[in-house]
Amino acid sequence: MTTPDTITIRRPDDWHVHLRDGAMLAGVLPWTARQFARAIVMPNLSPPVVTVAEGSAYRDRIVAALPQGMVFTPLMTCYLTDASDPDEIERGAAEGVFTAAKLYPAHATTNSAHGVTDVDSIRSVLERMEKVGLPLCVHGEVTDHDVDIFDREAVFIDRTLEPLVRDMPGLKVVFEHITTAEAAQFVESASDNVAATITPQHLHINRNAMLVGGIQPHNYCLPVAKREHHRLALRKAACSGSAKFFLGTDSAPHAREAKESACGCAGIFNAPYALESYLAVFEEDNALDRFEAFASENGPRFYGLPLNQGTVTLRREVNMAPEILDVNGTALVPFHAGEELAWKLAG
Ligand code: NCD
Ligand code: ZN
Repeated sequence: MTTPDTITIRRPDDWHVHLRDGAMLAGVLPWTARQFARAIVMPNLSPPVVTVAEGSAYRDRIVAALPQGMVFTPLMTCYLTDASDPDEIERGAAEGVFTAAKLYPAHATTNSAHGVTDVDSIRSVLERMEKVGLPLCVHGEVTDHDVDIFDREAVFIDRTLEPLVRDMPGLKVVFEHITTAEAAQFVESASDNVAATITPQHLHINRNAMLVGGIQPHNYCLPVAKREHHRLALRKAACSGSAKFFLGTDSAPHAREAKESACGCAGIFNAPYALESYLAVFEEDNALDRFEAFASENGPRFYGLPLNQGTVTLRREVNMAPEILDVNGTALVPFHAGEELAWKLAG
């Protein structure tokens, strides 16, 4: 079978990204904007983005940080807390500031200390979101100390997600950065109102990449990579052609020294080679014909947004990912550092 040397797809979107703020924002944004027309921007700044005014101001800072000539639309999210107000969230949706709201279980991940302690405490918010059609993005891990970190996603499905989806069938839910066979299965068998994003790292690495041959902090993110059979289930889901799975990088930059530390931060900076990374997976799994749907169609359809008009082209070309990138003065180690990628984004 012959394989193509160029691939052109409708311009994709990133349905889960951390763009940070200030100098880091200015440094990482071009990597995202050169590939993606839009992105769902995570609100876990410190302090988090909880009000319409904060969402709007953050959006302005992102737009101001865009290099001249780049066209990119940030889609903002509202960070839910125990004190979230349904009226504020409805107003944010009505004014076009919020495209989704984000549920972080308190203390599940980076900057989630203000997150939700118990989903029951935000029931009125979720009911309003269901009513006005605002999607809920979910970091799906329990935080109970007695639950092993490798089981936290599967337990979250049983304890929180399954009852939530049952009680609020009209609520649109994006189960984000899924990492387990259980999550893929749950999403596949749920209603059309439930979808999932999948990161490049969870398609490429299993937990060995984090722990074998010495601890590998640059392969540590949350939810953590799991066993190989989970990785294979995620690849199957992504490449299946199912409209329920779409691209969300979870690119989460942390300075090199913050990762290479006695208590290293969770997060993988995969924005620089995101499309090349995903494309490698679809090629290896003989699913090149399904790449465009995953990258550019399933997400907007789920969110009820128009498909992008432009295109991007990737060429088969040796593409060396550097060991380290200077991102506006901060050293960042990108995903695939030191590896050779087989595709390169043109332009
Ligand atoms: C994210 C971050 O650094 O903000 N880290 C990560 O490991 N993915 C937070 C998150 O999405 O969990
Ligand atoms: Zn994230």
